[in-house]
Amino acid sequence: MLNKFFRFSSQDMAIDLGTANTVVYVRGQGIVLNEPSVVAIETVNGIKKVKAVGDDAKMMMGKTPDSIEAIRPLRDGVIADIDVAEQMIKHFIHKVHGQRRMFSYPEIVICVPSGSTSVERRAIRDAASNAGASQVFLIEEPMAAAIGADMPVTEPIGSMVVDIGGGTTEVAVLSLRGLAYTTSVRTGGDKMDEAIVSYVRRHHNLLIGESTAERIKKDFGTAQPPADGVGHTLHIKGRDLVNGVPKEISINQGQIAEALSEPIGTIVEGVRIALENTAPELAADIVDQGIVLTGGGALMHGLDEHMRDETGLPVTVAEDPLTCVAVGTGRAMEDPIFRGVLLTA
Ligand SMILES: Nc1ncnc2c1ncn2[C@@H]1O[C@H](COP(=O)(O)OP(=O)(O)O)[C@@H](O)[C@H]1O
Ligand SMILES: [Mg+2]
Repeated sequence: MLNKFFRFSSQDMAIDLGTANTVVYVRGQGIVLNEPSVVAIETVNGIKKVKAVGDDAKMMMGKTPDSIEAIRPLRDGVIADIDVAEQMIKHFIHKVHGQRRMFSYPEIVICVPSGSTSVERRAIRDAASNAGASQVFLIEEPMAAAIGADMPVTEPIGSMVVDIGGGTTEVAVLSLRGLAYTTSVRTGGDKMDEAIVSYVRRHHNLLIGESTAERIKKDFGTAQPPADGVGHTLHIKGRDLVNGVPKEISINQGQIAEALSEPIGTIVEGVRIALENTAPELAADIVDQGIVLTGGGALMHGLDEHMRDETGLPVTVAEDPLTCVAVGTGRAMEDPIFRGVLLTA
């Protein structure tokens, strides 16, 4: 076996298999792929076939004909559809390696949500093995997020990371390479999108798609109501619920903040519960170290400030929240200091 001699292969990779985005990091190269965790499946004569994966599949979401279905196999933080998830992992691995044969059987490190069951972990491991990995390691997602955010995980200092993804928010207290406390809240960016969809439906009788809601959230969403209560006004198009025709309405940032307040409140509550369950010595460290936000949800305007107000603790957003977990997973693979945090089972 070649990789017995060349212990580390330049094809080794670290994968952040997120509910919204999959990010791949290759040893010695850094991030080489960042695409939505979406698979478009076409059914022809009862037989299902992968039509598109990643960016191409996401563009089809909400716009597919009846024969094509755009699926997010990890949607709520668990693997909703293992077969589709496996196809997706294989597709991305092959995309990274091009048409080239994998001559050296790479090692693959994949992060898993800390709340995932042993069955889910096995499923992820098997999918990576089936895709051609010689050895698969897993790493707990909050640990990867903390390493990627340059937090002091190897020191006897308590720190808190809050990773806000699409399907879930992972809250963890770390110290000495271990997770002292973790909790997973099934609220993340998706629930924020849904909150905007339902607000617009209730208050304006307008039906909008999730992709439209996500765009509104990213461009105009805010965790803090604007100073004048109104902020920017935007025009959004959708289908009128009463007469079924397309129409346009206007909505302001104050209203969007109102729509987002419930899912954001749920996330803050998760943080509060974690703080209440943290040992006093570690809690004391968190007062000094503060809370670090990672994941795409950390980009929500005003969220750090809101969390600061709600917890009374310092809150910072990691430098590149969308790639933190992949970078941390990659570093855990590359750096001997961190290899101890990798899980084999
Ligand atoms: N600027 C932004 N403001 C608010 N939410 C954002 C922003 N950018 C991305 N997001 C949200 O972050 C989520 C994706 O984050 P990510 O960390 O990639 O999730 P996951 O790890 O679950 O794949 C999506 O719900 C997306 O809408
Ligand atoms: Mg994530």
